[in-house]
Parts: sequence; C-alpha cells; structure tokens
Amino acid sequence: MRLDVVTIFPEYLDPLDVSLVGKARARGRLDVHVHDLRRWTYDRHHTVDDTPYGGGPGMVMKTEPWGDALDEVIAAGYEAGARGPALVVPTPSGRPFTQEVAVELSQRPWLLFTPARYEGIDRRVVDEYATRMPVYEVSIGDYVLAGGEAAVLVITEAVARLLPGVLGNAESHRDDSFAPGAMANLLEGPVYTKPPVWRGHDVPDVLLSGHHGRIARWRRDEALRRTALNRPDLVERCDPAAFDRKDRETLSLLGWASEPDGRFWRRPRTVEE
Ligand code: ADE
Repeated sequence: MRLDVVTIFPEYLDPLDVSLVGKARARGRLDVHVHDLRRWTYDRHHTVDDTPYGGGPGMVMKTEPWGDALDEVIAAGYEAGARGPALVVPTPSGRPFTQEVAVELSQRPWLLFTPARYEGIDRRVVDEYATRMPVYEVSIGDYVLAGGEAAVLVITEAVARLLPGVLGNAESHRDDSFAPGAMANLLEGPVYTKPPVWRGHDVPDVLLSGHHGRIARWRRDEALRRTALNRPDLVERCDPAAFDRKDRETLSLLGWASEPDGRFWRRPRTVEE
C-alpha cells in the first residue's frame, strides 16, 4: 500500500518510522511519502492560509498550494506505478472513523492524506479531487485537535495492522473490539498473562482451567459486562438475534431489560440498586 501525506508539519509524521508501521515499511508492505505543503507556495512567507470569505474567526487553507501539491504527488505516485488513489481528509466534521472504515481503507492500494491546520481547507479542494477519486472525510472522535496530523497517525496505525503480513499472528485481529463476527459490537474483555498471582491479585480460575468452552463463555460475559458499562450505545445497537440465553441472563443481571423484539435497553437504576 502506498501512503502520501501532505502537511505543513512533516516532522509530525516521524513516528511513522517506529513500531508496527515502521516495521510494515521495512518489510515493504507500506510505502510512505511525506511532503511539505510549503514546497508548493511561491511567496516570500510561504503562505498557506487566508481569511475566510463571509467573515468569522480563524484562517482557511488556500486552494492553490493544495491543488499544486496534490497534482504533483498524484502524478509522482502514478509514475511510480501506484493505482487507485483515495483521498483521506481528517476533519472533526467527517464521518466517524470506525474499524469498518479502517477495513475499507486497508483494502485500497493508495491513500493520500490531507491533514489541515486552522479552520480547514477551502472546500473547493475536496470538491475538485472528488471528481477523480473516492474521498473519505473522517473524524477520529468528538473533540477538536489543533490539526489533522495526529489523526493521520491514528488512521495509519489502524489500517497498517490490518495489512496481510504486518501483524505477527493473523488471528490477533479476530477478537479485536469492533471486529466483524460473533462478537460484533462488543468490546474485548480483560486479558491476563503470567504470573498467576501478582501482589495478591489472582488470574481468574477459569482461564487456568484449560476448558475451552467455559473460557469462551467467560470471555463473552466479560465482553458483555464491559460493553454494557462503557458503551451502552453498542449494546442497544446489537442485533437481538446475536444474544443467546446466557447473554440475556448476564445483561439482566447488569440491570438491562429486553423489549418484546429482543432488543435490550438500559433500565434506570432504582435507589436500592
Ligand atoms: N482535525 C481536528 N480534529 C479532528 C478530529 N477529531 N478528527 C480528525 N481530524 C481532526
């Protein structure tokens, strides 16, 4: 997979040399190119922003540097043999970046990131490239960062670990929180390793039992418990058919009640509870 990042802070992307993404690059699974947007400015101050039409606070990134940069970066990618570019625009106004979007992006051969500073990029830039390629405007969460570079790091890491041959053990994806499948919409439960007792804290007996069926059940109950506590919205969104009898029992013990259609909703706690 080829990645191009155009930014006014190229050094912000230095962590792409480290850890999993660094290894993916070393193994040739990721071909990363970081470009300084100011290379495509032609005035003495290397201006990339200007005041917004219509007034208001902040500055808007200008069309010309982005257009010139993207044209050249796209041409260079094609020249190097890359095909099928997609533009990834990190912005708090984008659609939520979820595991599902990560999987979709991991299946593309070439991602072009345009992390913005200030109030964002003049809209015409996205409109222009949307005529040539798919555009993913994505937000990594309901908070506002000073710029999109940290979001590029987040998205790249989530995507890179899905590429074949990047994670040591392909099975590692299987139980990820948010992975598709039986545990879809449940968060991963707690995990343990040796020693069996640490500062008086035991590893749960069931995990030492060697009984695969009971271990799987315990893991599912823990996943349900954690999801119900931390992400009740995910439980409410679950397909009722995904819950077995034991799931229902666990949820009702946690104070959840079911609708006639099987969907669960959080029962308000009474004072005694
Ligand atoms: N840029 C600023 N805030 C952001 C966010 N939450 N997600 C993606 N890009 C951003």
